[in-house]
Amino acid sequence: MEGTQRDKLIWRSKEEEAEDKRAKVDIYKYIFGFVEMAVVKCAIELGIADAIESRGHPMTLLELSSALDCALPTLYRIMRFLVNRRIFKEIRDDASVQGSQACNLYAQTALSRLLLRSGESSMAVFVLMESSPPMLAPWHGMSARVKDEGADSSAPFEAANGKDLWSYDAANLAHGQLFNEAMACNASVRRWWKACPWIRGINFDLPHVVSVALESDGVEHVGGDMFDSVPKADAAFLMWVLHDWADDECIQILKKCREAIPEEKGKVIIVESVIEINNDQQKLKEEELKLKDVGLFLDMVMIAHTNKGKERTLEEWAYVLGQAGFIRHTVRSINTVSSVIEAFPA
Ligand SMILES: C[S@@+](CC[C@H](N)C(=O)[O-])C[C@H]1O[C@@H](n2cnc3c(N)ncnc32)[C@H](O)[C@@H]1O
Repeated sequence: MEGTQRDKLIWRSKEEEAEDKRAKVDIYKYIFGFVEMAVVKCAIELGIADAIESRGHPMTLLELSSALDCALPTLYRIMRFLVNRRIFKEIRDDASVQGSQACNLYAQTALSRLLLRSGESSMAVFVLMESSPPMLAPWHGMSARVKDEGADSSAPFEAANGKDLWSYDAANLAHGQLFNEAMACNASVRRWWKACPWIRGINFDLPHVVSVALESDGVEHVGGDMFDSVPKADAAFLMWVLHDWADDECIQILKKCREAIPEEKGKVIIVESVIEINNDQQKLKEEELKLKDVGLFLDMVMIAHTNKGKERTLEEWAYVLGQAGFIRHTVRSINTVSSVIEAFPA
């Protein structure tokens, strides 16, 4: 008996030792967590992916520094970091020799192509928007919001920038444009109108947003306030809108959507994250786990950037939809950060 207890103690302390060791490494992820975002922002601003793309083939450091007109030694360190993070690839090129050394070439990866300044799948503007000073400043006010939940003054974005995000963007049109372009990066869904030309779409948003929206065949731009009314249509489509608001505000918006659609055949289509708390993590593939992580990250973004927004669980979605008078709804996972929820009034 004594021996077993001693063995157990030794075994536990080995496990704890390993945990301590891991913690001492993991802590740096949090100390320097911002570095990855900052270096990726730097890569986008320098136009590293764009330079390699326009050259049409991998480039040496010398070619890259002369194309970007920047200091070779610092660019080398930036590239070393980005290669280490697998954002660019370094490939050996025996054909180009400098002195007695073969020169390595920097090449694109699927990830670096997402950092191109233009192109259908570019996410560059999304990075630039999230790393812009007005979006970064509110992160310092998270603990104040948690402590003073409910007090208007505790909203981190308002505390840092003097106004909520929507009023700030209406007054600072350049930032508003950056925000709208970032949202467009994510909303490849907007191309649905091209895929389904028989659909007549109404792009409904705040007046300062629709006033700068690009003309697009089959899409009518309508400015307004969804808390007052929503344009009449067969279906209302809301992507990444409801997560910006508290439950009572969501219920108001959903009621306006219900008034806008036909009672019998209408539906509201919602594209948002669904937070699953008790999922069996073991059964999920690595990508699925990462997507679930993004949902939790977005939930933190809602704390920092909105007054009372949040990502919702299945139960929380059922609550707001039920309170808004929808009698049934379906939820479909579409293998992205978001799921599709369809809600029916009848
Ligand atoms: C997170 S963005 C999502 C935009 C778009 N659905 C997308 O996925 O690209 C939220 C949108 O809600 C709009 N919005 C905020 N308050 C609004 C209001 N009271 N009435 C109408 N639109 C509003 C914002 O201007 C912004 O475009």
